[in-house]
Amino acid sequence: MPNSGKEICPRCEEGILVTIETPQDILLEGSLVRIGRVQVDECRVCGFRSLSGREVGLFEILFAPQYAHLSDLVAALKSAGYYGAFLREDESEAALTFGSREYVAGLAPDLRDLYLDNESGHILRGLGAAPTGKVPIDLLGKQYQVKIPKIGEGENGIVFDYEEDIHSVLKFAKPRPYSREHLREEYEVTDFFLKHRVPVPRILESDPYGSYMIKEKLAGDSLAKIYDDLGPAGTPLHQRVKNEVETFVGRLIELFSRYPETKTSVSPNNIFILLAGNDCRCLLVDTGPAPLHDYSGFVFDHYWEKVIPEKIKRYREVGYL
Ligand SMILES: Nc1ncnc2c1ncn2[C@@H]1O[C@H](COP(=O)(O)OP(=O)(O)O)[C@@H](O)[C@H]1O
Ligand SMILES: [Mg+2]
Ligand SMILES: [Zn+2]
Repeated sequence: MPNSGKEICPRCEEGILVTIETPQDILLEGSLVRIGRVQVDECRVCGFRSLSGREVGLFEILFAPQYAHLSDLVAALKSAGYYGAFLREDESEAALTFGSREYVAGLAPDLRDLYLDNESGHILRGLGAAPTGKVPIDLLGKQYQVKIPKIGEGENGIVFDYEEDIHSVLKFAKPRPYSREHLREEYEVTDFFLKHRVPVPRILESDPYGSYMIKEKLAGDSLAKIYDDLGPAGTPLHQRVKNEVETFVGRLIELFSRYPETKTSVSPNNIFILLAGNDCRCLLVDTGPAPLHDYSGFVFDHYWEKVIPEKIKRYREVGYL
């Protein structure tokens, strides 16, 4: 992944993921194939584990057309010394393209996740490699000129402007099943929030596997971005934003208690602030689920004074901000 290489755990949003090596079994046409040393990201706080998504190369071996039979494939994996295959450093020459979703649908579930991890890893590395400018991406036959640098990043996705439409943004899931699931559910619960009059960006297009989506671009800025510019506590701007966020977060937490399946993270990255004259509005930019969050002991002042600055510090450390 681009940036610092450090990642905050997408599940608990507390731990920093550490990379370990472990054997991994994948099911190929009914046979278990053991891959010796695979990189896995692990959270020591909540126990979350996921293939790191950073490995390159396995996918090229697995999907090379010459391996018609499982035995050929296993032989190829062996002769590539599995480990070497996973850590191959040379990047593919191919353009940044998402594969056909019909092809993805035909893959066995274990392979599908590996394929999707590799695909997203490849795309995000490609986008991360360009310091500024535009990178063309092919999304199922349509080209988009993605603008670099990113406009935002969270635990599950990286968000970019693109040239073809200034009113929408592209969000790419990080290369792991958890994050794709986050995007899929984000899509599913968006209507719920709209129905309950919580302003959220509409989703214009989305990948059935959760690898990417196109969303309306929200006006304003995330609370994470503007928090430090609000001035000292008690000054009019600071107070206005604080009051508005308190009302907004209160409403959300009340909604989550009635509909627990819609619980999202009220992190400062997920709350947008729109200032116009003396007016201040809050919007929810990320409707993706955060089932592990517990709001039963939520105290707003603690959230405002302690949680938000700590989260912002964390985001800076890992390069999300
Ligand atoms: N629709 C949008 N309009 C403007 N900025 C956005 C939009 N969606 C995301 N962003 C930016 O990207 C950041 C991360 O997006 P988010 O959806 O929260 O990702 P994650 O699912 O990883 O938490 C946000 O804090 C925001 O700065
Ligand atoms: Mg978010
Ligand atoms: Zn965790």
